[in-house]
Amino acid sequence: MIAPRILLIIGGGIAAYKACELVRLIRKGGGSVRCVLTEAAHHFVTPMSLAALSEQEVHTSLWDLKNETEMGHIQLSREADLVVVCPATADLMAKMAAGIADDLATTLLLATDKPVLVAPAMNVRMWLHPATQRNVARLRADGVTVLDPDEGAMACGEFGPGRLPEPPFIWGEIEKALDRPRAALAPGIKGGALAGRHVLVTAGPTHEPIDPVRYIANRSSGKQGYAIAEALAALGARVTLVSGPVSLPTPAGVHRIDVESAREMAAAVEAALPADVAVMVAAVADWRAEVAAGQKIKKDGSGAPPVLPLAENPDILAGLARNPRRPRLLIGFAAETEKVVDHAIAKRARKDADWIVANDVSGDVMGGDSNSIHIVTRTGVESWETMPKAEVAQRLATRIADEFA
Ligand SMILES: Cc1cc2nc3c(=O)[nH]c(=O)nc-3n(C[C@H](O)[C@H](O)[C@H](O)COP(=O)(O)O)c2cc1C
Repeated sequence: MIAPRILLIIGGGIAAYKACELVRLIRKGGGSVRCVLTEAAHHFVTPMSLAALSEQEVHTSLWDLKNETEMGHIQLSREADLVVVCPATADLMAKMAAGIADDLATTLLLATDKPVLVAPAMNVRMWLHPATQRNVARLRADGVTVLDPDEGAMACGEFGPGRLPEPPFIWGEIEKALDRPRAALAPGIKGGALAGRHVLVTAGPTHEPIDPVRYIANRSSGKQGYAIAEALAALGARVTLVSGPVSLPTPAGVHRIDVESAREMAAAVEAALPADVAVMVAAVADWRAEVAAGQKIKKDGSGAPPVLPLAENPDILAGLARNPRRPRLLIGFAAETEKVVDHAIAKRARKDADWIVANDVSGDVMGGDSNSIHIVTRTGVESWETMPKAEVAQRLATRIADEFA
């Protein structure tokens, strides 16, 4: 398909502003977009911004379509290759599931004969409400593609599933729905080698709370894990990236779930299964404070520091190896400061991972842009020369794809 035509229906949610970014990405990817706003969406984003970004007229009401003698609302719903609802409110999904058509957006959704992709975004309670879950199940049974929302801190101050996935991820899903090959392959990489595979990647540090203002952390920047997620997505994999706190943009086409602590990361990894491959790059804290204080711990004037008992965190890699839904290829990372290969060989056997990618972090690897790694497999050790993290990621992604060739 040369230039896909997208009909973008924007619901009245706080994430409506992200529709502007999605319009930009669709256009950058060579598509055209026609935007329709619900009445509520007007309160969050202006038709003017969307018209400027899409370079097309924006529609808002059933009654302002000019060509109703030619059934403009039917025409609008049919001339697209794909209908995308982003953000989809709880209300819009309820109406879609019930077949209600009481405004332009819902009338188009009922009248269309094209595939429909829905990106929900709402407060966690609204998302988890049995009514919404029923509506999502109904829509999926009707053949609508409903994306899972991201999990993390929300605009309303709560935490959980309900956040709109990042626009680059939605654009990746649009490309998939249109059956287009992914763009932006690195030179020399075979496109689509991991198409149809789900790869789970963890990245970044974890933060283990001590009290409301302090935490235990490490120097991991997330750069290597993010580069690996990007390289795997470029090979056509569906990538879920479970990320500790980092300040990096989400790679194109990657579904990112933000977490803070090791226990949150373990839960997010479990929730993301099944996966064909897991690449556990995150530098998960081995220990957490046994009890995180509810209030800031104060000096008591005695000069004696407080005692901080630690508890061991769950071992995410070993847990995945024992999981009945163990990924076919399980890869762990080992950050070592001495006897790098020896420790990695022992770690692979102890955790029952398929590969351990060991890196020497005694220099400035953590936070730096280069890495030198050793891959320990069940049968031997490969040592790679020092290279940029992006190149490590591309070579590793190709090595993973070869396992599935
Ligand atoms: C400030 C504010 C933010 C809102 N954010 C959301 C949201 O993110 N998701 C959602 O489903 N509803 C949200 N709502 C409620 C919807 O706007 C409301 O259900 C509206 O009827 C949706 O209309 P629509 O589905 O026609 O766009 C929000 C309301 C307000 C006032």
